[in-house]
Amino acid sequence: MMPSGLPPLLLLHTGLGSRFDHHLESFLKTVLERGRRSLEAGEPATGVSWSVVGLLEESGFFNAGRGAIPQEDGIVRRDVGTMDGRTLDYLGIPGITTLSCPTRILPHLFGRTRHVLLSGDAASRWIEAEGLSDLPLPPVFDAASLRTWSGERDLEGHGTVGAVVRDRSGHLAATTSTGGAGRMRAGRIGDSAIPGAGTYADDRLGAVSMTGLGETILRTVAGYRILSAVSESLDRPSAVRTIREILSEIGEGISGQTGDPLNGQIGGILLSVRHGPFVFHHPGVLLAGAWRSGERGIVVSDRWEPEQDPCLAFS
Ligand code: GLY
Repeated sequence: MMPSGLPPLLLLHTGLGSRFDHHLESFLKTVLERGRRSLEAGEPATGVSWSVVGLLEESGFFNAGRGAIPQEDGIVRRDVGTMDGRTLDYLGIPGITTLSCPTRILPHLFGRTRHVLLSGDAASRWIEAEGLSDLPLPPVFDAASLRTWSGERDLEGHGTVGAVVRDRSGHLAATTSTGGAGRMRAGRIGDSAIPGAGTYADDRLGAVSMTGLGETILRTVAGYRILSAVSESLDRPSAVRTIREILSEIGEGISGQTGDPLNGQIGGILLSVRHGPFVFHHPGVLLAGAWRSGERGIVVSDRWEPEQDPCLAFS
């Protein structure tokens, strides 16, 4: 796909249920600001998505990276998925036990295998053979802010993190990282590492990163399903209606009950090539932030009301 000529854009989320306050807002603005600088410097979408998700992982504020929650055997298994919309290259590694911040390893591994999914154990052996093991973490945040947030981290499992990015050349990328969701049997794998479920990017369509109950997202291939439907929508208002309808269908399909979306509690961020950025959730609260070149700067919020507009409004 040739470059779209559309402005660079960075959209990130920190999962359904993450609480919003001014500390977190300022932290996310710092992350978005770093992403903005990288995009303006001409860095590719993949690399920017890895570095901003890496900052979210390192913070320990979310159920991803340093903040990831353990499974029932006490072992933390992290899932990461990333996709390059230019080439459709994908790398998903579920069940990582040897890296605290999995996206930090992606610049060393991505594009170096024809495989799409690698188990955490196999990936760990590869990483060790490369002499990479756990990379040193740059000291990004001060100790006081880390204490504030590590004390408040929600052990219910909220806080998958993800980003969708369009770079200066118009290429897209999506990256999602998680410690899972709530109580998990040992070895459980969620949606984040699985292409089309939690993570997807295609320069011709758009990019998406999902959050919420992985079992629901996996069973309904929610990420690609929503992205594809939005791409086929005639205009932005009909794309909004389409997202809403699909989320309801998913909720009802999974729960088996009309109007009972409890088990369909999912959300995400999406950048459509045709219709722009969207933040959506059903029926939770999704903390997300965005920056788009040439618009009114950085926006962070945890409320994207369907009645008003479930989309980011930049004007
Ligand atoms: N959405 C994250 C997970 O269920 O693993």
